[in-house]
Amino acid sequence: MALRNIVTQGEDCLTKVCRPVASFDSRLHTLLDDMAETLEDANGAGLAAPQVGVLRRICLVLDEDTEEYIELINPEIIAMSGEQTGLEGCLSVPGKWGIVTRPNYVRVRAQDRDGNWFEAEGEGLTARAFCHEIEHLDGHLFVEHVDHFLTDEELQDYISEDEE
Ligand code: NI
Repeated sequence: MALRNIVTQGEDCLTKVCRPVASFDSRLHTLLDDMAETLEDANGAGLAAPQVGVLRRICLVLDEDTEEYIELINPEIIAMSGEQTGLEGCLSVPGKWGIVTRPNYVRVRAQDRDGNWFEAEGEGLTARAFCHEIEHLDGHLFVEHVDHFLTDEELQDYISEDEE
């Protein structure tokens, strides 16, 4: 396994529509293993393939309940409900945080690393991560939903309110 370089906002690969994965081969498995290591190293909640310069429909999402990464290949959101408004950031937009409204519940259909279809669901932060990462695969960043980025002071206030 190896760490991959995370590209940042301004790079072309973050604005492209990614292609579906057709080959569930050792090259895909190496990419998934590298993405997991990169995500763990960055202490993030999710990572999409375009963030490491690969224009394929692949992402990893941290499941807040099991604290494990779910590998999603060719994922689609098949159901959503409710609404949540909360803090969001992105490894490709370092140091910037904004308030984004997302569905509170999301169900996705995706393939695993061997090509088997499965469904996964999540609420709260996991639902937020599903939306954020799958959006990356169509070239979108969370910043498109943000009116203004939080100042350091606002960020501290937000975090301390959240802990109360
Ligand atoms: Ni992101």
